Amino acid sequence: MTRISLTVDGANVSDDVEPRMLLVQYLREKLGKTGTVIGCDTSNCGACTVHLNGTSVKSCNVLAVQADGAEVTTIEGLARDGQLHPVQEAFRECHGLQCGFCTPGMIMQSVDLLSTNPNPSEEEIRLGLEGNLCRCTGYHNIVRAVQHAASQGATS
Ligand code: FES
Ligand code: FES
Repeated sequence: MTRISLTVDGANVSDDVEPRMLLVQYLREKLGKTGTVIGCDTSNCGACTVHLNGTSVKSCNVLAVQADGAEVTTIEGLARDGQLHPVQEAFRECHGLQCGFCTPGMIMQSVDLLSTNPNPSEEEIRLGLEGNLCRCTGYHNIVRAVQHAASQGATS
């Protein structure tokens, strides 16, 4: 077992983990952060996307020990003081989801996209989200949601 200490959604946590444990397993199984979901665990679907030191990563593709000392934000840490993050609000307003399974990863990826490109074109949005798969929506309303969030100045 290896001791890791990190910040998750603003809280300091410390745990002994097996070196082979994935970050997504750590978040879900040790911390109960089940808002981060597993769609494939082969780094294809993006459902498990979280932010590691401010950048989006597929947490099924990162070992928990690699997050030692890092700051991790999950979908559960985006809202502030009971207010949805502007990107969460935009997905709600634009109906950017159906079953919702891909939504945590889509939103985390969209927040990262807007932090580096606050005013993306439709093509840039589609490219920025190409690592996140959705079986339900056909992506149309997801793109609209990101455009709407951008128009509201949602950059962080
Ligand atoms: S569960 Fe991580 S990319 Fe699919
Ligand atoms: S809303 Fe169902 S997978 Fe995207």
